[in-house]
Amino acid sequence: MKNIIAGFFTLLTLGLMAWVASNGGAYNGGEAGRITKDIGTRTAVTNKDSEPKEKSDREKENEALTALRDKAGNVGGFKVSDEYKSKCSSCHGVDGSGMQYGKKLMGPKLFGQSEEELYKKLDDFKAGRKENMIMRGLLIHLSQDDLKRLAKEIGEFPARAKALEDSKK
Ligand code: HEC
Repeated sequence: MKNIIAGFFTLLTLGLMAWVASNGGAYNGGEAGRITKDIGTRTAVTNKDSEPKEKSDREKENEALTALRDKAGNVGGFKVSDEYKSKCSSCHGVDGSGMQYGKKLMGPKLFGQSEEELYKKLDDFKAGRKENMIMRGLLIHLSQDDLKRLAKEIGEFPARAKALEDSKK
């Protein structure tokens, strides 16, 4: 009788083990194990999707930054005053050609405008006749003589560029 009972439990245990194994296996965590695997594959897929996109965004940003640095850093361009370089070139470019960061305009093109035009615009910003917080904040600390000197310098940019080009010939 003892043997029959022992045999029954042995069979039951084996049967249970077989059943568990056919349901995914207790060793893999059964149902829970499959869900974890699922999440695993899903995150892997999302990562694959977003990785190259992130990279190209970063690349674009790096390119934009390099362009900014090149323009602000007087690379291969004509000479400008330290005053223009330190106060204006970060937004208008070291040669006054304007600056763009991605789609955002940092500062419009100044190259090619006459001394008179430039002085009038600067004076308008400073006096508040033309509203722009950035330009006004910058110019409010400058004297009329400073404005005239800057306008004169920027007005000379096309001539300087031409001289530079001629000197390369
Ligand atoms: C922080 C960025 C920034 C800096 C630095 C800066 N500007 Fe500007 N500037 C602008 C922006 C933006 C405008 C456009 C404003 C508008 O049209 O409302 C502008 C407009 C101008 C204009 C008028 C251009 C036009 O055709 O309408 C002149 C001239 C000018 N800036 C000269 C200067 C000078 C000179 C300096 C240095 C003393 C300077 N800016 C520094 C951002 C800047």
